[in-house]
Amino acid sequence: MNINSVCVCGAGTMGSGIAQAAAQAGFYVILFEPNNAVLENAKKAIKKSLDSLSEKGKIAQGENEKIFQHLRFTDDVQTCLADVFIEAIIEKMDIKVGLFNQLAELNHGECVFASNTSSLSITKMAEQILHPQRVIGMHFFNPATIMKLVEVVNTKYTNEQTTGIVIELAKQMGKQPVICKDSPGFIVNRVARPYYIESLRLAEEDISSFEKTDVLMEASGFKMGPFRLMDLIGNDINYAVSCSVYEQMNKPERLKPSLIQEEKVKKGKLGRKTEEGYFRY
Ligand SMILES: NC(=O)c1ccc[n+]([C@@H]2O[C@H](COP(=O)([O-])OP(=O)(O)OC[C@H]3O[C@@H](n4cnc5c(N)ncnc54)[C@H](O)[C@@H]3O)[C@@H](O)[C@H]2O)c1
Repeated sequence: MNINSVCVCGAGTMGSGIAQAAAQAGFYVILFEPNNAVLENAKKAIKKSLDSLSEKGKIAQGENEKIFQHLRFTDDVQTCLADVFIEAIIEKMDIKVGLFNQLAELNHGECVFASNTSSLSITKMAEQILHPQRVIGMHFFNPATIMKLVEVVNTKYTNEQTTGIVIELAKQMGKQPVICKDSPGFIVNRVARPYYIESLRLAEEDISSFEKTDVLMEASGFKMGPFRLMDLIGNDINYAVSCSVYEQMNKPERLKPSLIQEEKVKKGKLGRKTEEGYFRY
């Protein structure tokens, strides 16, 4: 199947970046988001980012306008017709399943349903969707326009055509796809979990402040300290991933989610997207 169009669902932190990256790769992209304020913000942010790439000479003059024309922004799911769907919506299984089933009813019999989930089981997701053989994980990293890695997560139901389409799509987007097993947190999020959780423990035990841990980790060679990174990811998302990995791995003490982070989520201090998390923006 030739991929002509891609529909990205959810225009938050990840969805807007994935949509921009797909449009830059030459695909016709629909960005679907039910919250109009979020949709409007994503539209402005993508326009600004493309204009800035053009000003800096990273894309040809005029190319920014052309790429922007390849994007359609909508809050109406009924108009979401495409070959590949990439969902980047809230980290909740039932909501993701509901959306994919709604899209399956509307779309042709070969389209692919790719989830950008950081931690939910793709197998469990596939089992609840009308066409399990066309369900796959396509896990991008933040910021999606820049980060090269895409974890491609097959299940025992995924057919070869679906895997092939997603690998090809990732490559055409200039990404590096890597096939991973469907296990909690896949590879990167499993390795990264202690980075966040131990840093939060140091704060809980009053051994180090958010600022101090970040300064030390960055001075030791990490690109971002754990607290700046959690603020970039979004505390709601990072906390949901911690809870999901913890539950799926039978609650090991070392992966117990932090009360500090739970509190940040309850207070709506989600990080950059709400202008306050561990730090103010
Ligand atoms: N934030 C990260 O660094 C990161 C990295 C990799 C993967 N992910 C995964 O990507 C997904 C989205 O994360 P995010 O950080 O972009 O979240 P976000 O909160 O920034 O955005 C999610 C968006 O989805 C929208 N939404 C909710 N229900 C919807 C529905 N039924 N249909 C369409 N849109 C809906 C919300 O209105 C919101 O704008 C999650 O599954 C997360 O685990 C996040």
